[in-house]
Amino acid sequence: MSLIFSSSFCTMRVLHILVVLMELSQVRTMSLYFGQALDSAEAFDEHSSYFEADILAGSVVTKMAVRDNHKLWDGGQVPYKLDFDPTSPDNVYVHDNIMAAIAAINAVGCVSIYEANMETDVVNIRLDVDYSSYVGRQGGVQNLTVSSDNSNIGTIMHELMHTLGFGHEHNRADRDDFIIIQWDNIKDEAKPYFQKYTEESGFTDHDISYDYESLMHATNQKNEDIFIDLNKPIITRLDGSTSVGQRSHLTEKDVERIIAAYSCGICEDAPDNTLFRYPGDCHKYYQCDQHHAVARICSADLHFHVEANYCDYPWLADCTEMS
Ligand SMILES: *[C@@H]1O[C@H](CO)[C@@H](O)[C@H](O)[C@H]1NC(C)=O
Repeated sequence: MSLIFSSSFCTMRVLHILVVLMELSQVRTMSLYFGQALDSAEAFDEHSSYFEADILAGSVVTKMAVRDNHKLWDGGQVPYKLDFDPTSPDNVYVHDNIMAAIAAINAVGCVSIYEANMETDVVNIRLDVDYSSYVGRQGGVQNLTVSSDNSNIGTIMHELMHTLGFGHEHNRADRDDFIIIQWDNIKDEAKPYFQKYTEESGFTDHDISYDYESLMHATNQKNEDIFIDLNKPIITRLDGSTSVGQRSHLTEKDVERIIAAYSCGICEDAPDNTLFRYPGDCHKYYQCDQHHAVARICSADLHFHVEANYCDYPWLADCTEMS
């Protein structure tokens, strides 16, 4: 059973190419960017126009999820607010797309992205020139940007997946067993975007196998900021084919990863009273009751002890400390 969640994620905000790979708590930067570095330790920026462009071609995104469970959203509940006027005629189209993207993620029936009320950890959805998102919950208000002139439902879903805590598929540590990065055709400043995640990057794949078609995989959609020769691919499969990634839908494995990271399927085959870790909150745990996961709270300041299956002192319980 998968009780450890992983974590660190990505942000896509792009002014040009900003790429910062983060690790668990301390950032290890591989920053390559023009201009200023992102100030956030949690940021992993993607080239936005690259993502706008990868609607059909497929892109490389990691479906890996952050391992730190404090970067997951408590119980899969993700409050958002809109930082623009959705009724303005200029914004109707992009607003419709944002709503459609949220509905598509919510349709998995596991996590819930909903309009914020009084929550303090909130996704602030803004319109900007590019798409960007942090990877996982940052604590407090965190921006997610959507390109106002080129809004695509699948690309917005891709950003929301980052917000949920998923990285890029093409950055997986095992990706060389599946794809070849065509370094000769990638501009230097874009290279960090194609680095592999390391053990310290803080992601887990939940034992879900590589997915060429993931919504979170980079694509070969032509992009002048990344490609040296637009007529050649930047990623090929081992058999030479160039079909990787897409920006239209969650694949089956994308869905599996959401369910695994957020424990939505844990009680499906479990007997009553089986206990599981509760994503994002060490004080809580799940108890199976007729194949449904029911959230319970440990008394006082105890934490759920994963191996022992009971609430214990925090220093004895194997649970990532809450931020
Ligand atoms: C969100 O983006 C706006 C505009 O770039 C910026 O002023 C603000 O500080 C950002 N908020 C956070 C919490 O990063």
